[in-house]
Amino acid sequence: MTRLLAISGSLRRASSNTAVLEAAAALAPPGVEVELYRHLGDLPLFDPDEPGCPPAVARLRERLAACDGLLVASPEYMHSVSAALKNALEWLTASGDLMDLPTAALNASNRAHRAYDNLLDVLATMDARLVDGACVTVPLTTNAVTADRVAADEALAGPLRASLAAIAAAIAERPRARDTVAPVAPRAPGPCFAATVHDALAMGPPPPGNHAVPVFGHGSLVVEMYAPRDRDLQTPHARDELYVIARGTSLFVEPGGSREVGAGTFLFVPAGRPHRFSRMSPDFATWVCFYGPDGGERP
Ligand SMILES: Cc1cc2nc3c(=O)[nH]c(=O)nc-3n(C[C@H](O)[C@H](O)[C@H](O)COP(=O)(O)O)c2cc1C
Repeated sequence: MTRLLAISGSLRRASSNTAVLEAAAALAPPGVEVELYRHLGDLPLFDPDEPGCPPAVARLRERLAACDGLLVASPEYMHSVSAALKNALEWLTASGDLMDLPTAALNASNRAHRAYDNLLDVLATMDARLVDGACVTVPLTTNAVTADRVAADEALAGPLRASLAAIAAAIAERPRARDTVAPVAPRAPGPCFAATVHDALAMGPPPPGNHAVPVFGHGSLVVEMYAPRDRDLQTPHARDELYVIARGTSLFVEPGGSREVGAGTFLFVPAGRPHRFSRMSPDFATWVCFYGPDGGERP
């Protein structure tokens, strides 16, 4: 099942943007599920000094992590996206949650375009993967609509169906490389950041959809702590990868061979190369760094 989270930038009870997203949920083809996020108004104002992740933000991030793609639509307020939506996006850019996330931005108006242009720009800046053919205009001529009326009007339902088909196809063709996403980017007070192995292991279990605990993100760099216990369930990664073994010992297995590795060993794994750890000691833990583009950097 392909799961899409839909975020409307309007808090208005009878919002036309929300109606369009509800219509998308009703029109979703078999195998695609669209769920509405209805808590935009619960998010606190983004504050870079906030040391933790407020509960409402954490819940939004959990829902995003559980989805394969994003639908988003915003009203135009003073030629821009709504402040409520921009606030949510500010929280999400700080954590990198939209990075490489297949995204369909919808324009629910046949007149306004500035907010939509602004939304596309903001999403591109956040490295969301804007899907060609999924970013469409649903040409509403009034904002007094319901989801049922949108779904029943082929002039409105047609672009929505096309958008859903395009984003579902994009996800099927290239699923989001979840392991390359930086869900947690600590906001260090200065330009440097440091974490001990102990710090990283104390950050809790990996988030849903990830085998490792995200520790740090900067630009394309994602640093994680990986401590597989009985079995290493990882699959090849879309990006180039470095390991520095932090504790314990293991057998590092790749096609055609294996080698013993232990604390201090440095490993480089090119993008797409199958590999895994085996026979890990009980205290085995390794730093993992992903960087660069999908497909890896050229030598
Ligand atoms: C404070 C405010 C500012 C607005 N600014 C614009 C604007 O700059 N351009 C525009 O085309 N519409 C503007 N509108 C109209 C809204 O974009 C329009 O009502 C939209 O349908 C609201 O979305 P909703 O139905 O999802 O709540 C504004 C509405 C409000 C309340």
